[in-house]
Amino acid sequence: MIARTFHRAAPISPLAYGMSESALATTHRSHLCGALRAEHAGTHVRLGGWVHRARDLGGLVFVDLRDRAGLVQVSFDPSSAGAMLAAQAASLGAETVILVEGVVAERPAAMRNADMATGSVEVRATALRIVGPAETPAIPVARGKSEQLAAEELRLRHRHLDLRRDELQHNLVLRHRLMQRTRRYLSDAGFLEIETPILTKPTPEGARDYLVPSRVHPGEFYALPQSPQIYKQLLMVSGFDRYFQIARCFRDEDLRADRQPEFTQIDIEASFGAQDDITRLAEGLVRALWAEGNSTVSATIPRMTYADAMERYGIDRPDLRYGMELEDVSEAFRGVEFPFTSAALDADGRVRGIRVAGGATLSRKQLDEIDAIVKSAGARGLLRVKRVNGVLQGAAAKVLDDARASLLRLADGDLGLYLAGADRVTGPALDRVRQDVAQRMGLVPEHVNAFAWITDFPMFERDPQSGALGAVHHPFTAPHPDDVELLDTAPWMARAQAYDLVLNGTELGGGSIRISDPAVQARIFGLLGVDAETARARFGFLLEGLRAGAPPHGGIAFGFDRITMLLAGATSLRDVIAFPKTTTARALFEGAPSPVPAADLKDLHITVEHA
Ligand code: AMO
Repeated sequence: MIARTFHRAAPISPLAYGMSESALATTHRSHLCGALRAEHAGTHVRLGGWVHRARDLGGLVFVDLRDRAGLVQVSFDPSSAGAMLAAQAASLGAETVILVEGVVAERPAAMRNADMATGSVEVRATALRIVGPAETPAIPVARGKSEQLAAEELRLRHRHLDLRRDELQHNLVLRHRLMQRTRRYLSDAGFLEIETPILTKPTPEGARDYLVPSRVHPGEFYALPQSPQIYKQLLMVSGFDRYFQIARCFRDEDLRADRQPEFTQIDIEASFGAQDDITRLAEGLVRALWAEGNSTVSATIPRMTYADAMERYGIDRPDLRYGMELEDVSEAFRGVEFPFTSAALDADGRVRGIRVAGGATLSRKQLDEIDAIVKSAGARGLLRVKRVNGVLQGAAAKVLDDARASLLRLADGDLGLYLAGADRVTGPALDRVRQDVAQRMGLVPEHVNAFAWITDFPMFERDPQSGALGAVHHPFTAPHPDDVELLDTAPWMARAQAYDLVLNGTELGGGSIRISDPAVQARIFGLLGVDAETARARFGFLLEGLRAGAPPHGGIAFGFDRITMLLAGATSLRDVIAFPKTTTARALFEGAPSPVPAADLKDLHITVEHA
């Protein structure tokens, strides 16, 4: 996993979103534990919270009490509070919920704890009530500095306890703040928040659908939306002009750390605009969100075409925090009898790779690890060449004369890592190599947010075997105005008015200008092999909408979980979602999916074949 480091001015405090202390006072408490400071000294307080840790120092008992705002130390002194109370405090089990009354006192200088926000005070208890007895927690909530977290599977199984950890509390507070900021920003820009259905028809976003059987219509199914794409276009047709939704989306696809089967998008659509209008608006939103996360966005976000990104980085979401762009060294090997490259070059492939300054120091073991990454990305092995004391080393050294070797442009101490084959295979594999090597060589700068717009995506991708066309974005994406003619001659060459926003190698969001002419939409369906009848059955409601007078329109959707993950400095979406799924799409806490009673299946007209 690539370390995601972001520039943040200050950590986000759980209380720092406009809630005053007094607003959080309730029947059972006067103050929040984590909010007590020296200025509260002498105040009589009533607190409620969880026993984080209890220590009995020979009769004098200290309890760290925890609530949403953090921890405070509560002392139970048998000489002032009474032996009964101190004994009761000493017997408190971890995670018990208690109500405490007492007086805030400044700690003597020697007893202050600089690591705790409340470290200059303690609460001297006068009363204690247990209101929520707790079983011994299945996973610890309080952890020493060097103590490891419990295994993730165990933490997901006991998510209610795991969510008590301050890291997850902070992440969910940040998520809340980003959500409120999104609503404020878009609403102020004239966008209307409109909900769209969850029980719907399939939306083609490239994944499998989650299907929901209909009880009243035997054999028929709803699909959960992969995105609200068609609905948001219809809202433009209906004249709402500017729409947004913080939308739940469902995709049955292979999961990774930055993918969940159920996730949230900031979904946006606007009428009467072109690509620049959408990207300008999206940049404004991103700036607002990064400000909310105490991070920064450069004054301008560079743009790069898809073709350029693929050539220079092998992938459409390049990490631009460091260089090491891909180099085409095919000419060094052309006409050379060399098993590693000959077949690829004969089959119109290329030899491409990266030049790692000072990389000759990488050990064989490290290179073998990089080789394993390449293979797991579906490419054949890596060709390694290095120049040490002016001499080229590696299998290629034997077949390259000086003139050819100079084409590799390796200086002394450099390492060249190359792959031979079709760009479609070598590009993504070299991206992985680039990321891995950047980590190993310490080339990833901290505190850099390298945003970029990737533009001019192709309309279609061609299946290498069958030649069939598939939509790169989705089938409602408008062709580039300069490439409309190509749709008749070489559609696979046509560019789309589609754009993605990437940050440090992660795709944050993507969108496009849509087709608003029903004839063009029908033509694109045709090219995608969707015949008129299928188009009517699957997308009839969109086509009908477009025929009713559609404004030019376009939009974008951001991965809200991804944005939160990056701003939280987390490495997994699971750390910013309250109740996430595992990589095998299981909800361990709730225990879903699960078998259902036979009678329910019968009602749904479903028979299950057991494997
Ligand atoms: P797209 O499919 O690119 O576009 O999705 C938009 C953004 O959603 C996030 N994302 C995900 N996040 C978590 N888990 C997933 N499984 C997942 N899949 C996607 C990504 C991605 O950039 N309807 C179009 C948008 C449009 O054209 O307006 C769409 O859904 O951050």
